[in-house]
Amino acid sequence: MKLVWPSREYLASYVVALERGWSPDNIRGRITAEEELKRIAEDADAFLASMIDREAAGPPLTMLDGTKVPRIPGYRKWMWDGEFCGSIGFRWQPGTEALPPYCLGHVGYAVVPWKQGRGYATAALREIVNDAANEGLRFVMLTTAPDNVASQCVIEKNCGAFIGEFTTPPELGSKRERRYCITTRLTAFASCVTCDRPLGFDANCCIVCHRVFCSDHCVIREGVANCADCEVERRNREAAGVGDADVERIVARVAHDVQATLGSARAAIVEETAARLRLFEDRPQELEQKVVDDVQQYIHDGFIDTTWPSCPHHPNHPLWFSGGWWQCPEKGRVAKLGELASA
Ligand SMILES: CC(C)(COP(=O)(O)OP(=O)(O)OC[C@H]1O[C@@H](n2cnc3c(N)ncnc32)[C@H](O)[C@@H]1OP(=O)(O)O)[C@@H](O)C(=O)NCCC(=O)NCCS
Ligand SMILES: [Zn+2]
Ligand SMILES: [Zn+2]
Ligand SMILES: [Zn+2]
Repeated sequence: MKLVWPSREYLASYVVALERGWSPDNIRGRITAEEELKRIAEDADAFLASMIDREAAGPPLTMLDGTKVPRIPGYRKWMWDGEFCGSIGFRWQPGTEALPPYCLGHVGYAVVPWKQGRGYATAALREIVNDAANEGLRFVMLTTAPDNVASQCVIEKNCGAFIGEFTTPPELGSKRERRYCITTRLTAFASCVTCDRPLGFDANCCIVCHRVFCSDHCVIREGVANCADCEVERRNREAAGVGDADVERIVARVAHDVQATLGSARAAIVEETAARLRLFEDRPQELEQKVVDDVQQYIHDGFIDTTWPSCPHHPNHPLWFSGGWWQCPEKGRVAKLGELASA
């Protein structure tokens, strides 16, 4: 089995799978399969082109409850062994491992029932984890239903670590799910691209080209590493993106909220996050949202505080950031960014 880019060559076999009742979408199932058959009949080339969407140019996604949400960049590859066998999708926000709340994981896959149990999903996931490393992601997140033993098996065979169980938001059906994390690169065994020294804990991944270097052969500025080759590219991106004044304002506000609730030791992460994400986002408001989401995910997933920042009205859930405000899903706006009160 190999992964292929969706193209004309494989389309007829893909259509057969859809017609036999298979769906690439594990959440919306048959609805998506019918929609795709219609889109293929209307304009096959447009359908194929939409399988690779690194610019998130596609139309909004429809959730289970009918809500529409913006797409994030991503693509799909097809499993092929002479016939169509399944599909695997990868989506991510450049520069961060954080995902919007309506997007459960970076990777989703489905194998047609008549080709299951041959190791195809396991091999496909292995290849996508490698893609993710090449896109600069340090890890990918995946989720499965608690009773989806086959999928858990696929993740565990790719060295996935079980993180915990959670309940999905209402637009995704309020269902229990198990979350897993797969690290993309074993830097402990890598060596520096420039001097070939084994890296161990001294591995610094260049934010621009994603190659790894020892600390003598890269520059670390505001906690973010780049190699000598990429210095100019990084400066150019910084100059073209959100201005220094806006970045400083964002850092000050987020750092204030982290400091007020968790203490100053945790505030350094904010500067690093902003220095990284400004290379991938040129709109100040979007940058602010991404920095908050990334910092929040870091604090949750690192088990520093899994309900940060705690809702003052309810004991067991975090506030979510949107439109410049920390919000409780029930009570709405709680505090502006930069104005969270100390606990
Ligand atoms: C999950 C899925 C993608 C696995 O695809 P696959 O190509 O059959 O998976 P693999 O052959 O790589 O590996 C499956 C592993 O799970 C095991 N497995 C398969 N079906 C199983 C079942 N019903 N119960 C327990 N284990 C099962 C297999 O034995 C295999 O492990 P092994 O190699 O140690 O024997 C496929 O079952 C599928 O498409 N399911 C529907 C869609 C879906 O659930 N997608 C994932 C959503 S998170
Ligand atoms: Zn070196
Ligand atoms: Zn580089
Ligand atoms: Zn609340």
